Amino acid sequence: MKSLEEENLLLKEEIKTLKEKISKEIETNYRKDKLLFQQNKMASMGEMLGNITHQWRQPLMELSSVTMELQAKIELLGGVSNEEILEAIKKSNELTKFMSQTIDDFRNFFVKDREKIELKVSEQISAAINIINSSFKRNNIKVEIIVAKNSKIHGFRNEYCQVLINILSNARQELVSRNIKEPKIIIRIFEKDEYSIVEIEDNAGGIKVEPINKIFEPFFTKDKANGTGMGLFMSKLIVEDNMQGKLLVKNVEKGAKFIIAIPKSN
Ligand SMILES: Nc1ncnc2c1ncn2[C@@H]1O[C@H](COP(=O)(O)OP(=O)(O)O)[C@@H](O)[C@H]1O
Ligand SMILES: [Mg+2]
Repeated sequence: MKSLEEENLLLKEEIKTLKEKISKEIETNYRKDKLLFQQNKMASMGEMLGNITHQWRQPLMELSSVTMELQAKIELLGGVSNEEILEAIKKSNELTKFMSQTIDDFRNFFVKDREKIELKVSEQISAAINIINSSFKRNNIKVEIIVAKNSKIHGFRNEYCQVLINILSNARQELVSRNIKEPKIIIRIFEKDEYSIVEIEDNAGGIKVEPINKIFEPFFTKDKANGTGMGLFMSKLIVEDNMQGKLLVKNVEKGAKFIIAIPKSN
């Protein structure tokens, strides 16, 4: 026989776990409602176009810089070598391939049960950097990559790549518009517990809104001529709802630090 005191204690324990269960349920429901609302809204054609525009702006600029460089060389130096032309073609092909994949991704974004594949984190980072590298070079932005542990994750390749590109091009925009001397982006790849972590840190002076998490709201954009405010909102949706991870941000000494944590696949 249990004493009354013991019974009481057990009951208290039970009430506590029940309370926890209820608040968890409420939270998941709230999240589901919110997500449904957002997805409905996003599914409209206008939203879709806005997103594609946003994702295309960058590669389009890259594409025009590839051709402009060729033109400048021909005009100033009187010609270009076959190698230079081939290099330009290769770059253009990569960019157009990415652009056409973007459309597919956005179309697929609202369709359930697409196939997830195993991704190597550092490969995705190289792919993302490759796409915006020429504008990094043009603006003298140094990129340092520190790999402690290159883990594998599960996800949709282009979605993950888009998250990286969104964060990197935001950093680039701030570094350029704020005229930062010795602009730099540091990318750290490591593991913590069961998570693969990618940290992207810049020295652009940090995020200047309070509370800082406002930047993840749809349509939140600040001091930008053609900002859509969709980049980080989409990125958070991809990381947290499609990849069961976390996308966080904080201000550090010299700038902003974005943290992408995604469960490792083994
Ligand atoms: N690395 C950063 N440093 C400072 N501010 C940033 C950084 N990244 C994002 N932000 C802020 O967050 C806002 C939202 O970003 P985003 O969702 O990509 O939309 P957009 O780039 O179209 O404005 C930006 O307008 C900018 O004010
Ligand atoms: Mg952006």
